[in-house]
Amino acid sequence: MTKRVAIIGAGPSGLAQLRAFQSAQSKGADIPELVCFEKQSDWGGLWNYTWRTGLDENGEPVHCSMYRYLWSNGPKECLEFADYTFDEHFGKPIASYPPREVLWDYIKGRVEKAGVRDYIRFNTVVRNVSYDDASETFTVTVQDHNEDKIYSEEFDYVISASGHFSTPKVPEFEGFQTFGGRILHAHDFRDALEFKDKDILLVGASYSAEDIGSQCYKYGAKSITTCFRSAPMGYKWPENWEERPLLERVDTHRAYFADGSSKKIDAIILCTGYLHHFPYLPDSLRLVTDNRLWPLDLYKGVVWEDNPKFFYLGMQDQWYTFNMFDAQAWYVRDIILGRIPLPSKAEMTQNSQAWREKELKLETAEEMYTFQGDYIQELIDATDYPSFDIPAVNQTFLEWKHHKKENIMTFRDHSYRSLMTGTMSPKHHTPWIDALDDSLEAYLADGPQDEKLASNQ
Ligand SMILES: Cc1cc2nc3c(=O)[nH]c(=O)nc-3n(C[C@H](O)[C@H](O)[C@H](O)COP(=O)(O)OP(=O)(O)OC[C@H]3O[C@@H](n4cnc5c(N)ncnc54)[C@H](O)[C@@H]3O)c2cc1C
Ligand SMILES: NC(=O)c1ccc[n+]([C@@H]2O[C@H](COP(=O)([O-])OP(=O)(O)OC[C@H]3O[C@@H](n4cnc5c(N)ncnc54)[C@H](OP(=O)(O)O)[C@@H]3O)[C@@H](O)[C@H]2O)c1
Repeated sequence: MTKRVAIIGAGPSGLAQLRAFQSAQSKGADIPELVCFEKQSDWGGLWNYTWRTGLDENGEPVHCSMYRYLWSNGPKECLEFADYTFDEHFGKPIASYPPREVLWDYIKGRVEKAGVRDYIRFNTVVRNVSYDDASETFTVTVQDHNEDKIYSEEFDYVISASGHFSTPKVPEFEGFQTFGGRILHAHDFRDALEFKDKDILLVGASYSAEDIGSQCYKYGAKSITTCFRSAPMGYKWPENWEERPLLERVDTHRAYFADGSSKKIDAIILCTGYLHHFPYLPDSLRLVTDNRLWPLDLYKGVVWEDNPKFFYLGMQDQWYTFNMFDAQAWYVRDIILGRIPLPSKAEMTQNSQAWREKELKLETAEEMYTFQGDYIQELIDATDYPSFDIPAVNQTFLEWKHHKKENIMTFRDHSYRSLMTGTMSPKHHTPWIDALDDSLEAYLADGPQDEKLASNQ
């Protein structure tokens, strides 16, 4: 009987899984029956932007953590699909740091070409997964919001690709109950114009703090203060941006910091990261980890060691993104197709522990992305995913880090060479700081257009 595979989520990871199976099928392989459950009404995961926050139209937690005017925070050359290049999708070379809508278009282009949309049941939330030892099958229970029906189906394999940057980690600080301005988490940030002329405080010292602060600077915040728990970001900030030690408390309009200083603020944005959250999984299948490069219990970063018919995609902290999800999806596909044998549980755990020990020794950013690159190389070597020059991608990450250090407000104006096609990216027609219109149309235009947004203000 044909085996059945459930894929949970149609973001970049779940779509990579569909494309991996379709690729094998196009080369003559018999593939299992695939069902992808997606709670949103469209594909693309976090890249499928919505204005909504809180609950969505079906009363489900909004998945999207992206916001208006979000541009790629790393060079697109580091995330390019090896089997579907930017040149192929756009028909011309494009600049290196595309806005969200452009990357969403690129993600969609590959799966539209592959013709895999019919595998996906949209507006369908996975509520529960259980495993029966006797029948060796999973029961997946879902709620279909199109029909307002709850139903269950049996599967031989389940792949969790529901992402881990959607459920906010929300600390509380003394005085929040009575603070006189808005307090929100980065997950609910949507439009920097809301903070024009405001004094804002961002808690956290990672990508969200850096990027949301930069957005607010670009769109006219009066001042930006970021505060850190472990270490400052340390970039050369514009004149109205400063970094302070961690927030201790607030009163109605002032924030008080660990060094005894204080500052008037109008709004607080908690850029404090996300939880790995799987409300649909029992403890026996549920990954418990913080955001790191080597979560334990996952052989090769994907196989659930306690039940190797259950898999996770994209659960690591991410330097590499789209092409790492591909490497994982091809690997999982080949386990399911019987092309890659799995060792005993003890050997899988030993292998994961060895990776964890290496991970614990990493100190510099360069060591971290090299570690993730080595991991991807190992997966790619085991499948027919097109090989690409991972040391060259690492080199591009290095240049990116230098460009950020040079000037955090201009790093997105740099160009890099595609490691897939060799094409050098053209310079974008407008420096990032002046490009207020983030639409696909404006980005792909040959020159600056009227800044729609500026004229709307
Ligand atoms: C603010 C922000 C900006 C980012 N910017 C970049 C960037 O510039 N470049 C980059 O490479 N990466 C970026 N990332 C990283 C991002 O994690 C990846 O690019 C990518 O979206 C991860 O893909 P995924 O499929 O693993 O998860 P997601 O994109 O999160 O997709 C998961 C999917 O699962 C669905 N789902 C969840 N629960 C259920 C359920 N119970 N039932 C059914 N479906 C479910 C969701 O609706 C969603 O469609 C950013 C992340 C954030 C938060
Ligand atoms: N395209 C873009 O421009 C863009 C924009 C935003 C985000 N992203 C992506 O989104 C993902 C998530 O990034 P993220 O910055 O949201 O999360 P993150 O990288 O996990 O960082 C979380 C930050 O919050 C701090 N923190 C956590 N709990 C805290 C507490 N209780 N008090 C004070 N500080 C606390 C952490 O400090 P410690 O170091 O002390 O733990 C860390 O600085 C990344 O993959 C990133 O690339 C991309």
